Amino acid sequence: MENRKILYSAIQPTNNLTIGNYIGAIKNWLDLQEQYDCYFAIANMHAITVRQNPAELRQRTLALLALYIACGIDPEKCVLYLQSHVSAHAELCWVLNTFTYVGEMERMTQFKDKSLRHADNINMGLMDYPVLMAADILLYGAEYVPVGEDQRQHLEIARDIAQRFNNALSPTFTVPEGLYMKVGAKINDLQDPSKKMSKSAENPNGSVFLTDDKDTIIRKFKRAVTDSGSEIRYDPQNKPGISNLLAIYSAFGGKTVEEAERYFAGTGYGDFKLAVGEAVADRICPVQAEQARILADREYLDGVLKSGAERAARKAGKTLSKVYKKIGFYQI
Ligand code: TRP
Repeated sequence: MENRKILYSAIQPTNNLTIGNYIGAIKNWLDLQEQYDCYFAIANMHAITVRQNPAELRQRTLALLALYIACGIDPEKCVLYLQSHVSAHAELCWVLNTFTYVGEMERMTQFKDKSLRHADNINMGLMDYPVLMAADILLYGAEYVPVGEDQRQHLEIARDIAQRFNNALSPTFTVPEGLYMKVGAKINDLQDPSKKMSKSAENPNGSVFLTDDKDTIIRKFKRAVTDSGSEIRYDPQNKPGISNLLAIYSAFGGKTVEEAERYFAGTGYGDFKLAVGEAVADRICPVQAEQARILADREYLDGVLKSGAERAARKAGKTLSKVYKKIGFYQI
């Protein structure tokens, strides 16, 4: 543990995760926890930059924690915690605000997008979101930050803020590097395989959610669009539907795409789609059962959060106190 490099990431407890998120993000974290000193947060402070239903936010927080653990993220191996449990996040965010320019926040793509989508609630938190994210990362001295491509700009600003502070005062923060994971990159929409599978697809049959039950999963795969011809061959150009299904099968069925092609040679599209649905359900349904079991054990979950918060606060507190000293806050 001692001389491992530090890695930090977080997920907001707001999204309905798809099987693309599972393959693109959560599954990678399983490998990362073996190699790095990992801090994984549930970013509920980021979540409230868009209006949330409080009861739902609370419930989704626990559901996401239980999901992480059910997927194999081990609270003994990494620090799993809730962002709002560690007050240093808000405190460092305040200091970093004074090293961040209004103009650069106004230019952030996600801020502009969300301002359009939530025109009635363009609040200060929404604009400050990247600074809070910088505080998250910098508090832990993280060297690596696995995120989706959509977070690249936020990570760049975190690096800028760290460097700006280091230059203005003295070297304090580790400048983090992004590990860009192609979240659901190879998994496309089942109804429109030219598009990435997303949580907010127009046609809900196009996305398979980690919360879908077995019947729903099978039904969605049975309805998946295929291509002309009858051959099960990986050819994203000419056979986007079949290729997507082969990629999904390979991710969930533990075979390479070539092995899957050989395995399904001569099979009809209908049977093939059913087999892909079953491979996904066989992997996802036990995780759901485990998630439900963990979710019912509130005492265990509270224990995980308590221990996570303590370990996170210890690390974060050291950084914050260094920052307070450098900035000239009189300490007693
Ligand atoms: N903004 C990230 C997202 O929506 C979540 C997040 C919050 C995060 N803080 C972080 C990711 C720190 C990496 C590091 O995906």
